[in-house]
Amino acid sequence: MSEFVVCGRLLDTLALREATAEVAALRIDAEGVIVERAPDGTDAFDALRLRDDAIVLPPDHVLIAGLSDLHIHAPQWPQAGQALDRPLEDWLGAYTFPLEARYADPAFAKAVYADLVLSLLACGTTSALYFSTIHEEASLELARACLAHGQRGFVGLVAMDDPGLCPPDYRHASAREALDATRRFIAAVRALPGNDRGLVQPVITPRFIPACSDALLEGLGALARETGVRVQTHASESDWAHQHVIERLGCTDSEALDRFGLLRPHTVLAHANFIDRDDRDRIRARDAAVAHCPISNAYFANSVLPLREILDEGVRCGLGTDIAGGYTPSIFENARQAVTSSRLRESGVDAGKPPALRGGVAGARVDFLEAFYLATRGGAEALGVSAGALRPGMMFDAVAIAGRRGHLRLQDDDTAATLVQKIVCHAGRETIVRVWVDGRAIKLKSDE
Ligand code: GUN
Ligand code: FE
Repeated sequence: MSEFVVCGRLLDTLALREATAEVAALRIDAEGVIVERAPDGTDAFDALRLRDDAIVLPPDHVLIAGLSDLHIHAPQWPQAGQALDRPLEDWLGAYTFPLEARYADPAFAKAVYADLVLSLLACGTTSALYFSTIHEEASLELARACLAHGQRGFVGLVAMDDPGLCPPDYRHASAREALDATRRFIAAVRALPGNDRGLVQPVITPRFIPACSDALLEGLGALARETGVRVQTHASESDWAHQHVIERLGCTDSEALDRFGLLRPHTVLAHANFIDRDDRDRIRARDAAVAHCPISNAYFANSVLPLREILDEGVRCGLGTDIAGGYTPSIFENARQAVTSSRLRESGVDAGKPPALRGGVAGARVDFLEAFYLATRGGAEALGVSAGALRPGMMFDAVAIAGRRGHLRLQDDDTAATLVQKIVCHAGRETIVRVWVDGRAIKLKSDE
């Protein structure tokens, strides 16, 4: 790849409740790093715009940073939108574990994963933190799909060994077996042909505490310390899962994970609905992060994340689709739901009760600027990736949006806040026209 320039209307955010919109030119070096940003009206802008290698976006397009999905189960893609009426513990046993067991067949995995990675890129997801299954070969197919299509992928071989919760045909036979498999998987991902730039990274992935023995959790904590590999897991998702951990270990998920050495910088805790102030302090102190999955939470968690508190207290946070707990691969749809859920939490929702008895949380709302931050910069920070905004020093992970497609109606005089709100409300696959990851232009799948 050689250096190039992109010019157009840029929209990005570096802090909660702030966004910048301006016409500017970006120069991207051969390593895919943004090395210059020159606003319209400067000599530098004029010089960049006139270069032969300049891509000049049409005036009605907006360029934003790529989106991060901090929590997605790749093998559950075939059941997206199915069985949303079942409680989590039934849904896992009746639908999810039987589907995931099918990934013993790498050919099945290969077909599903290619389709998923392309679909996510088409939705603007430039970085994804994946759960795969317990199968090493199938999980490597997911890593290969990310490399083949150019997505920044963080891929976790799922570790689960508890015979009380996991079915006999879909679990590791022992903690030792799961640890050996995880160790092999880390080495195999790092050695994949074409992964010399580290676009795809392995992730240590205990499914959730109820599915893992103490020996496995301890061993994975030691492996994280030894290898420096990131960690992801589900934490305090539903009342059932939260209570299960308290009864077994006498403490909450965040404390237990900390004791096992799994709460580390850039550990991503999916859901975290039931965390309290002590949990939040612990997560922040360890520089770990929360993956907020608001659509999934509405169906499976019996709760709404205390997002306002998380943001006000400075806990790292981004968004996750949680396919197939959530039905959509779109981070924009989850950003909308994050705003909507926070409004319902504030109002207490039950119109049949007098306001004083509705249980609403005053001031709980989050706004569209905050949701946009979570979708872009918040997600990148949670992952420890230098991306998520269009600034010098960051990797060029970016999405160009056509401003007059579908329901989107951007105007020339829209402020940054208005652009953000319109885009969060209406952007999606049909409005996304170009995607870059690591400075490379992605070949998007056309809709069949
Ligand atoms: N907890 C353990 N496994 C899962 C899963 O696959 N999805 C969700 N939403 N929660 C889980
Ligand atoms: Fe999940």
